[in-house]
Amino acid sequence: MVAPFERLMEETARLFDAEERGEGPVCADAFRQVPTPQHRQPPRSVIQSALETSYHPAAIALYQAGDWVPWELNSTSIFGATDDAEDVYFVARIIGPGCLMDSDTILAGYFLQLPGIYYPLHHHEAAETYVVIGGEADWTSDMDIFRFGPGTMIHHPPYMPHAMRTFDQPLIAAWRWSGNIDTDTYRFLEGW
Ligand SMILES: [Fe+2]
Repeated sequence: MVAPFERLMEETARLFDAEERGEGPVCADAFRQVPTPQHRQPPRSVIQSALETSYHPAAIALYQAGDWVPWELNSTSIFGATDDAEDVYFVARIIGPGCLMDSDTILAGYFLQLPGIYYPLHHHEAAETYVVIGGEADWTSDMDIFRFGPGTMIHHPPYMPHAMRTFDQPLIAAWRWSGNIDTDTYRFLEGW
């Protein structure tokens, strides 16, 4: 039987295997080589209850991996975009500098934005791909707004502005950065 965390890495690798850009399968191979973490993280009931709502295989694997996934609480307020303490999201970094799988060329993992949250318009030098595996959000990419749900792959070339707004569902996604993955290039922008 495959251990829950290993199953999660395989399901995530399959998401990026399907990307036509060459960096996608490179990131997929890195996910397959991530070592199983030594320690479980504390349980996060709010994350688990959000994950319960999705039936995508990768989301089910993410739910079943439970507190093996190193979720961190984030807020856009730490970047100065808002002082609203409710404006929170969760990121689990799996591959990247100092992560479970150390890498200087890939930053990748999972993203979870709770219902009723606006993640403001921003950009960065890294090229970025999201694959939605649960919930839905209104997604601004450049000047267009679409509502995206499970199975959607969204790619942002370097410095393409993007934003996400959730309503009554959370947004759950796998995500990866390539190119210049230095977070110092991250900036918030004016606009929707
Ligand atoms: Fe981004």
